[in-house]
Amino acid sequence: MLEKLNTILLLLCRSISTRKLYFSNHPKVMEFSHDFMASLEDFCKETGRNKLFIGIVKGELVFEGKILVGPSIVGRQLIEFAGRLHCGGFSFSRLMTAAEFSELLNLTSELNQPVVDLDQARELLQSRGISNIEIARYYMGHSDIDDKNEAWQGQDTGEVLQSPTLVYQALFDAVSRAHDNVASGNDIDIEKTKNVSEYLLHFTKTRFSDVMQYVHYPDYDSYTVGHSVRVATLAVFAAWAFGWNKELLLALGTAGLLHDLGKGKLPHEILFKKGRLTDEEMDVVKTHPRIGAEILLAQKYTTPLDIAAAWGHHIRQDGGGYPEQAPWMVRHPIIALLQICDVFEALTAGRPYKAQLSPQAAFGIMLEDRTAFELSLLASFIHVVGIYPPGNSVVLSDGSHGTVASVGPLIDRPTIEITHDSFGREVLPGDSFQIDLSADQNRHLSVVDLRL
Ligand SMILES: [Fe+2]
Ligand SMILES: [Fe+2]
Repeated sequence: MLEKLNTILLLLCRSISTRKLYFSNHPKVMEFSHDFMASLEDFCKETGRNKLFIGIVKGELVFEGKILVGPSIVGRQLIEFAGRLHCGGFSFSRLMTAAEFSELLNLTSELNQPVVDLDQARELLQSRGISNIEIARYYMGHSDIDDKNEAWQGQDTGEVLQSPTLVYQALFDAVSRAHDNVASGNDIDIEKTKNVSEYLLHFTKTRFSDVMQYVHYPDYDSYTVGHSVRVATLAVFAAWAFGWNKELLLALGTAGLLHDLGKGKLPHEILFKKGRLTDEEMDVVKTHPRIGAEILLAQKYTTPLDIAAAWGHHIRQDGGGYPEQAPWMVRHPIIALLQICDVFEALTAGRPYKAQLSPQAAFGIMLEDRTAFELSLLASFIHVVGIYPPGNSVVLSDGSHGTVASVGPLIDRPTIEITHDSFGREVLPGDSFQIDLSADQNRHLSVVDLRL
């Protein structure tokens, strides 16, 4: 059922985001709306319900008390919309008409200022003829939500965000805005990217495996942005584990978030093409490092390293790749590491046209092509990421399940946070515990499966 729910919410969020870009009867908006309504009807039929209620608690989407990790990432616009309505959730009735849903979408793009309170929001919905979509009070009282809203605003003030979802959203948002600005020819807010790079660093030190869970979410719709966030996160994590200093880590985070900026200028048909690219299309894609570097060069506050990373992240160590190695370019360890993370991410992430590879399979491919990478850096990267990277779900030999918390001295024997015991029972948060597979007393246990 959760998978169905994910699909419904993804369609809802896509309806909202396409409505933001196009007018209400544009074929794209109509298509997503239609699919959303059809999947809602399916869901109701299958579960015998008359409505679907999605709650919003502390900036995350919730269904029957469970946080929906994936939809919370792509559902930012829905969550923001709920904030403007002062509501804690939406209930979509099976009786909802296409006209009602279309009106709701109109509101998501037209309502720029918050209404006064929930009552006024309800009146607004009524006045638009929306009676089969209801809005609910906050699940946990006002103060809680208000605090969270403040934390979310706090991304500009240098405050440290507390929730991994919000950190991921802040990263995602910064990159997404930068790409949008590139597409529309506007300036990029480099300072903002630097700020979020600080959050990234803070979370890498404290809750890396939490952030990586979000990072693993295959977000096909905006995979260029998701890819940049994942590459930056992986790179900062690896470099932090290598012991690089703070200054380098911050520079790495920023360069990682901005490395594919040039893709913002590529035609959508090529960027989001579902099948293999033709040679001509591939030539167009290969222009993105040069475009990205040129755009960054024209911005205030960029560093030579940001520009060099955008230019050089597809240049191989043996000189191959693209574009040509510029005579002025210095091969900095930051670029060498980003190049490794870029390939690793591309191999292990899901795409509309290809399946995900396990980290082990990806390492195999990269080691085969070893002249592409700086070998000692690749070896260190493999060592710290391990074949079961933090944030991945794994199954242990006794049947218990868990999430990889950290990689220890042995790359195939990480520390696991147990989420389900060997009888399949969920471990409640208060009873949670970790098993360090590199410890002697746990030698009888091993990882038998990695869930991608
Ligand atoms: Fe790239
Ligand atoms: Fe990339």
